[in-house]
Amino acid sequence: MRCRRAFCKRASALLLSVLLGITGCGMELQPESLEDPYAHKEEGLTVVGVSQVGSESVWRTANTASIQRVFTQENGYFLIFDNARQKQENQIKALRSFISQQVDYIVFSPIEEEGWDTVLQEAKDAGIPVILMDRNVKVADESLYTTRVGSDFTREGADAGQWLADYLQEQGRQQETINIAILAGTEGATSTIGRSEGFLSVAQEHENWNILEQADAEFTTAKGREEMERMLNTYGDIDVVVSQNDDMAFGAVEAISEAGLTTGTEGDVIVISFDAVRKALEMVEKGIINVDIECNPEQGGLVERVIQKLERGEAVEKAYYVQEKVFTPENVGDYIDSRSY
Ligand code: AHR
Repeated sequence: MRCRRAFCKRASALLLSVLLGITGCGMELQPESLEDPYAHKEEGLTVVGVSQVGSESVWRTANTASIQRVFTQENGYFLIFDNARQKQENQIKALRSFISQQVDYIVFSPIEEEGWDTVLQEAKDAGIPVILMDRNVKVADESLYTTRVGSDFTREGADAGQWLADYLQEQGRQQETINIAILAGTEGATSTIGRSEGFLSVAQEHENWNILEQADAEFTTAKGREEMERMLNTYGDIDVVVSQNDDMAFGAVEAISEAGLTTGTEGDVIVISFDAVRKALEMVEKGIINVDIECNPEQGGLVERVIQKLERGEAVEKAYYVQEKVFTPENVGDYIDSRSY
């Protein structure tokens, strides 16, 4: 009787996975590639369900790769990976599917901060620890998640602002009105909120900085280009573009160049970017982007260390931050060759 109930439970969990479109081992779900997480638990593997926000940027692809490198069967894990394709409803479905499959851990990168209380309560009730990766959630009860592994986005934004303050001072432009256009990432995402807050906290100390607009460009090249084109047509004079990721910066640089202007160290428009993927670092080296504030996507190893601690019954901190640098033409040459993404 017990066996039959267990079988039914497994069969319905698998059926649910098919219906919800969950992927296995980082691959697109094909019914024939489905594996049974219960069987893997019995084999002694730790089952980890990962809900990734999407694949909107080079950074995101590198972040996914860092998870998939670590959570392998050779390392003792069975990974159930879901790509939410930028939709919170897909992430909530994925989390519910992980709960019904009784995974050992849920790891997820929330697209935005709000809207998670109910599903995280369900995970807590099921006794499944939730590890936030990259972005944060805003919940009434912080015990709904175990810990967060990611970047200090407010510090990143403040680093960008401080770099601009120093640069303008070197150029003797402290009295000149500096018109600043911001290309913001996904609305409500921790990276967008933190980078804006950090940058604006420095901006408010400089009366000559004039923030023209903060345009939502969703962390993508296509939107970055589109919004940059629009802002170039709207405002006669843009001195600085703060692009909250590299993908949007690529689109912005194209749009600026098509408008007959130049960017970077010798250019008409100062460009500040975030992430520091290889292509962007090469543009820093060439002087096309002035500065790139690193956002480190290599978070898989740290997430695994947290899981190892939890497996040993040890206490964990509420937040773990990855290490990050600021890249300018002066120091970038030392790092480009080792950049794999
Ligand atoms: O949350 C991190 C941000 O999300 C990265 O800066 C961006 O590239 C990504 O899509």
